[in-house]
Amino acid sequence: MNIYNIKNLSFSYDEKCLIFENIDLQLDINKITLLAGINGSGKTTFCRLLSGLEKKYKGKIFLENRELSKSSFAEISEKIVYLKQESFANIIAATPSEDVAIWNHKFQNKILPEFEKEQIEALEEYNLEHLKDQPFWEMSGGQIKRVGLAGLLLNMDKYWILDEPVTGLENALIDILINILQKRKTAGKGALIISHRFEKFEKIVDNWLKIEDKEIIL
Ligand SMILES: Nc1ncnc2c1ncn2[C@@H]1O[C@H](COP(=O)(O)OP(=O)(O)O)[C@@H](O)[C@H]1O
Ligand SMILES: [Mg+2]
Repeated sequence: MNIYNIKNLSFSYDEKCLIFENIDLQLDINKITLLAGINGSGKTTFCRLLSGLEKKYKGKIFLENRELSKSSFAEISEKIVYLKQESFANIIAATPSEDVAIWNHKFQNKILPEFEKEQIEALEEYNLEHLKDQPFWEMSGGQIKRVGLAGLLLNMDKYWILDEPVTGLENALIDILINILQKRKTAGKGALIISHRFEKFEKIVDNWLKIEDKEIIL
């Protein structure tokens, strides 16, 4: 089954410079797709289009049969979760423990003040329990990236869009994410991943895509 059905998609930030031209593409809800492309080719833009952040596109993007430009953020975030490339852009609170609690509250309708078992487990998964009450402004970029990855664990039932999720992370931490993605795949949950670390993702990727000359090719 497709999570995304993209028809004749064209997009530019301004009239002068087209980023995508007439893209037709389907993304399978169960599969892991890796999207590559040189710097500035439009990988992040594609993630923004799929998560409803850029609405002025031509063509159609269907998210499970509903046109994305007509969907609210609440509707979109019931089905997908988007981890942005910049670590800080994923942070919505002051500390890791508050942050994962908000993920639970905002997106899963759970109660904010209760630091539930699964929130603690999410932080433990990425070795963050000792930092759980440390303010983000006193943490490194890599640590903040890990908090974003931990937040994903509270969104296991959704399709994941991950923009360069392992950039700057050491191998042991990358392996944690790979194992989680593998487990999710077994449970029928797919993802779109932007990364250059092909060797790391090789064993779990089903579809290899590349942006080239305003098109997305196999
Ligand atoms: N908000 C924006 N306004 C105008 N141009 C943008 C904006 N964001 C990105 N771009 C341009 O769009 C192109 C694609 O950028 P991006 O999607 O970030 O590429 P990638 O993630 O593949 O490195 C680049 O040329 C970039 O300069
Ligand atoms: Mg990018």
